[in-house]
This record gives sequence, structure tokens and C-alpha cells, in this order.
Amino acid sequence: MPVDAPEMQAALLGWYDAHARTLPWRTPPGDGTPPDPYRVWLSEVMLQQTTVAAVIPYFARFTTRWPTVASLAAADEGELMAAWAGLGYYARARNLIACARTVVRDHGGHFPSSEDGLRALPGVGRYTAAAVAAIAFGCRTVVVDANVERVVARLFAVELPMPVARRRLAALAETITPGERAGDFAQAMMDLGATICTPRAPRCLLCPVARGCAGRASGAPDVFPVRAVKRARPRRHGIAYWLERDGHVLLVRRPARGMLGGMRALPGGAWGEAAEEAPPVSARWRGLGAVEHVFTHFALTLAVRAAEARSDEPIDVAGEWWPIDQLGEAGLPTLYARAAALVTAEKDAIAA
Ligand code: ADE
Repeated sequence: MPVDAPEMQAALLGWYDAHARTLPWRTPPGDGTPPDPYRVWLSEVMLQQTTVAAVIPYFARFTTRWPTVASLAAADEGELMAAWAGLGYYARARNLIACARTVVRDHGGHFPSSEDGLRALPGVGRYTAAAVAAIAFGCRTVVVDANVERVVARLFAVELPMPVARRRLAALAETITPGERAGDFAQAMMDLGATICTPRAPRCLLCPVARGCAGRASGAPDVFPVRAVKRARPRRHGIAYWLERDGHVLLVRRPARGMLGGMRALPGGAWGEAAEEAPPVSARWRGLGAVEHVFTHFALTLAVRAAEARSDEPIDVAGEWWPIDQLGEAGLPTLYARAAALVTAEKDAIAA
């Protein structure tokens, strides 16, 4: 059953007109006033990390603190990194400033309005360029995120497994992308994937495009996209040292390049096949258990050790003594915030 593109587009856009999610970076469907490219770009970068629900409070804080691309270009990098903490992929936060500065310096503070122009900006990949071009500038581009991949895989019952199917899915998405309302179409596909064509138990009875859907006709839409056999994530091990002195804890900055680059952290050695012993001082270190954290390409077991430093002891580590009762303002990435929580929980248990 071939998908009838004009019929599918009309059904999907009609559904979007009635059911579009109200989101802070959007203008209502068919509004005619395009949304602010700065807000679209910022939301799309954030949405690559996590869910719409998780992004909304970050987006609100960022746009209150930095309402324009010019204000973001002038932001203090440390403050921005701290505001980003918890979203993950910290290299993206550094690219955010680099991109804002390029827009101000090379484009008079206006985002380029073409996909190619956007693609040339620092940190703007194929997906973000296509999404901003379509949503903020109405360009007919093919916007394919994981939600859209799923919708297309089902509409066309694509048997090829992921990730090999990716190019096929993009080509099929191209065949159904309309010339008009490209931004609304892209966001309608995303909303459909998020609310109706969900990974498990898709709600086909409510779906505006069920009539032309080959996945639904197959009787088992949820098998699409077909998954490749999963390879196990390798596991790495590391240690986080909580060194305390007079109500302060020793924090360091991670090297600019690499995982959590430039973020504040607890000291510790490199992560590898076995945890590397690299305590910042010799002390009576106590083991407090471990934090498990999953990154895209590996899982990490981070053992947490704690000790008290003597007030007069010199410490041979480039770091800062941070007040423990203000640790919430240090902008620790989630991994280290969880390690700190382990220490706090143990202290509470001892005090109780
Ligand atoms: N996911 C990524 N971009 C999105 C958008 N603009 N609307 C809803 N979900 C999204």
C-alpha cells in the first residue's frame, strides 16, 4: 500500500492544527508569524539531549538569563556551563557560546536563513540545521530525529534494521515532506511520534495517518523500526575522591577536551578497564560505594571515596575549596552530583 503523500500531509497537518503541543519555543500552527530563530536553535540543541519535559525548565532559565543571541554571545562561559549542568554532552554547551559568537560576529546577530548557512555554524549538525531552517525559516528540508524515524519506518513498514535503515528512512521522509508549512510538518511528525506513534503500544486508533500506514496494515506496527542486535556497552571504572576540610570540599575542573570537558568535578584518576588510584593526598580514605552512570558509548562505575584533610596540609592539586552547603550552585554534572549525594547520604546515616 503506497503512502499517498498529499493525503498524508493534509491529514497530518490537520491533526497538528488541532492537537499541536503548546511549547515555549513554538508559535501556534499556521500562525504565519515564524518563531524566533534563536529560541528554535536553542531548543533544538537542548532537545538533542533529553525529553521535551526535561528541557522546558532549562529553556525557561536560559531565555530569561540570555533572551537574545547577542546576550548569549556575551555570556560568561562558567555561568553557562553551570546552567547547562544536568543536560549532558557538555561539549554542546561550549559550542552554544561559539555559535552565538559567530552569529553576532559574522552575521550581524541574525541566524542565517538557509540550511547550508546554518550548517556552517559551530556545533550545528545536519539535524539542527534542517530543523531550524524548516521551523524558523519555513525552508523545505527533511528533518529526521528518532521520533520521525519511527513514524516513517512504520508508515512504510521498512524491514531494513537500524542503523543501516537510516539513509532509507531519510529518503522516504523526503518523499512525504510538503513544500508548504515545512516547519509545521516537521513538528507534527515529532508530536505524532511522541504522543501517538510511541515506541511501545502505538495508539493507531487515534492516528491521523493510520489509513495509509503499512506498519499498521501489517498488524504489528511496533516491530518497526527493526532493531539491530544490540552490542553490550563496555564498562569503565573510575574513582571520585571527596576531600573535605572545614565545611568545604575540593573540586577540580575536568580537562577541556574529553568527557564532561570543562565541568567542575571531584578529583580522581582516568576512567579505564580498572580504576586508577590517584588520590589527591594520602589520607585515610573510606570507600562509600559507587555510582553507576551510562554514557552513550560506555557505562561507568565510579567508586566514591571520602576523607578529611588536615587544615594545615598542603594539597598538590589545582582545585578550589567549595562550601559544601552551596554545592548546588557548583554546576556539577549529574555524575558528580550523584557521587556527592552518596557522601551526604552516608553522613546523614551516621548522624541519625
Ligand atoms: N524534539 C526535537 N525538536 C522538537 C520540536 N521542535 N518540537 C517537539 N519535539 C521536538
